[in-house]
Amino acid sequence: MKKYIVIGNPIEHSLSPKLHNHWIKKNNIDAIYDKKKIDQSELENIIFEVKEGKINGINVTVPFKKAALPFLDELSIEAKKTRSVNTIYLNNGKTIGHNTDAAGFELAIKYLRYNINNKRIFVLGAGGVVPSIIFSLNKMQPSKIILSNRTREKAEDLKDLFKNVEIVDWGEMPNFDMVINATSIGLKENDEIKLDFSNVGYNKIFYDVIYNPKQTNFLKKAKDLGHKVENGKMMFIYQAHQAFTLWNKIMPDIDSETIKLLDQ
Ligand code: ATR
Repeated sequence: MKKYIVIGNPIEHSLSPKLHNHWIKKNNIDAIYDKKKIDQSELENIIFEVKEGKINGINVTVPFKKAALPFLDELSIEAKKTRSVNTIYLNNGKTIGHNTDAAGFELAIKYLRYNINNKRIFVLGAGGVVPSIIFSLNKMQPSKIILSNRTREKAEDLKDLFKNVEIVDWGEMPNFDMVINATSIGLKENDEIKLDFSNVGYNKIFYDVIYNPKQTNFLKKAKDLGHKVENGKMMFIYQAHQAFTLWNKIMPDIDSETIKLLDQ
């Protein structure tokens, strides 16, 4: 039986097992997908288990997407460019670190039928998923990517990877077409982003990487103001879809049953 696992800390909230096990069952694959909370000190050993064939694939989530890099034999272009790994597998005896968050975001935007080309995109946050979002945005050629993070230095660090990004102080409100919440604010039901979006104009897109809860206060307020809103559910599904396809060489269905699985 093949064994897959998602590692992170915390990990209880992860819906990856639910999604992957659904596809495993649907496609009659002899496999199991588990979750495991680990400490940083266990990262190297668990990745080595892929090399030994004890684990067939690992998904990596917060806070280890960057920390996993030194323990891999090879990195995909996406992993290299984002310094971030969320999918690990073995190829010709070598452990490969790949990043499917970037494609996940791009496919989610395509699903939305939104054209990023020549748009001004405002990104909030500088944590684990932000390099993947910026990488993916760059492929879609916006006119501007503006980045803001409470801790400005972390945003400045990202400029080393993505020179075209403009940084504004936390609290500043630039002109934008689409704003993306990639902070962790909203994971708790009462969380509120202390930014004032009341004068940003009309018909903007508010995108939240968070999908659980389904509607963060960020999206709720935007909706009340008449903007178009979208949560991170499809991004999550697409990143998992990419990993599953890579590991099992089967493209699972993304149908209404799959999408409903994540509605809790
Ligand atoms: P990590 O930073 O470990 O990768 P993350 O969940 O990916 O974790 O990122 C958390 C993001 O949410 C960060 O951008 C963080 O800002 P800081 O870099 O200043 O910590 C942001 N964040 C979390 N709580 C916040 C708050 N109350 N106000 C503003 N930003 C917040």
